[in-house]
Amino acid sequence: MDDRIGFVGTGNMGSALIRGVIESKTVQASHINGFDVIESQVDKLVGEFGINKCLSLKELVEKSDVIIIAVKPQNMAEVLDAMRSSLRPEQLIISIAAGISIDFIEKQLGFSMPIIRVMPNTPALVLQGASALAKNALVSEEQMKKAIKLFGAVGFACEVDEKLMDAVTGLSGSGPAYVLLFLEALTDAGVLAGLPRNLARDLVVQTAIGTLEMVTQKDNLHFAQLKDMVTSPGGTTIHALEIMEKKGLRGIIMEAIKRASDRSRELQMKD
Ligand SMILES: NC(=O)c1ccc[n+]([C@@H]2O[C@H](COP(=O)([O-])OP(=O)(O)OC[C@H]3O[C@@H](n4cnc5c(N)ncnc54)[C@H](OP(=O)(O)O)[C@@H]3O)[C@@H](O)[C@H]2O)c1
Repeated sequence: MDDRIGFVGTGNMGSALIRGVIESKTVQASHINGFDVIESQVDKLVGEFGINKCLSLKELVEKSDVIIIAVKPQNMAEVLDAMRSSLRPEQLIISIAAGISIDFIEKQLGFSMPIIRVMPNTPALVLQGASALAKNALVSEEQMKKAIKLFGAVGFACEVDEKLMDAVTGLSGSGPAYVLLFLEALTDAGVLAGLPRNLARDLVVQTAIGTLEMVTQKDNLHFAQLKDMVTSPGGTTIHALEIMEKKGLRGIIMEAIKRASDRSRELQMKD
């Protein structure tokens, strides 16, 4: 990609994205600009990858074609205020701030320009994230393709309509917490059955990794078909599944994720 990509905020997410786009050779380090109020965070990336350090937000905006804003949601207003006078209409703004709508960004800037809102998740930190991207009407097809490529460098990336962002937030944004809770519960169950905790953890982690590998290698099979492969007549698995179904585990999961999505909507209505 020939564009100059500017990162405002080079904390957890900003630095993970920078690492991802450089290691996947999506963008050369010399085309990446970074600015953070904590200068040492940019210095680290300059040392590690050779990106360019900007000394002000103004400098970053002037030197970048695409500006990725990776600051906390509460810092968005001040960042947009500081960028406003340097922005050019042909530039693309990408925001990853959770719960900040495209409308909020346009209102804060006082004008519209190409803007993409992204909901990534924490596995992006290990280049295995799931990101959904929503655009406003001024984003061209080519700009969206570039954005998908940038976020594809830290995992899976897809385009959604902005009205689906609350559902995405409740599902994949919060998703790592649900998966971790399930893994923790499985480990406890192993301990209850008499296994040493470390061994239970190792068995659970490998079972999860192995199952996901089967899902990705046999992607023509429905989850239920893979589940049926472990579920022999009158065997152990079907007895465990009977309890999970009786106690309504699926319903609990659906209700919980619906609540998370509703909460995402409520938080935005407060803006
Ligand atoms: N972490 C996740 O898994 C995740 C998932 C989905 C979405 N997100 C979104 O990603 C965004 C970044 O999260 P993060 O975990 O990477 O945060 P982070 O580690 O705190 O990084 C943000 C960096 O931006 C700096 N900053 C604050 N105001 C600034 C300004 N005006 N100009 C330049 N830099 C500024 C921060 O400095 P200070 O610490 O001094 O403020 C910090 O170094 C958030 O909006 C979050 O909602 C994160």
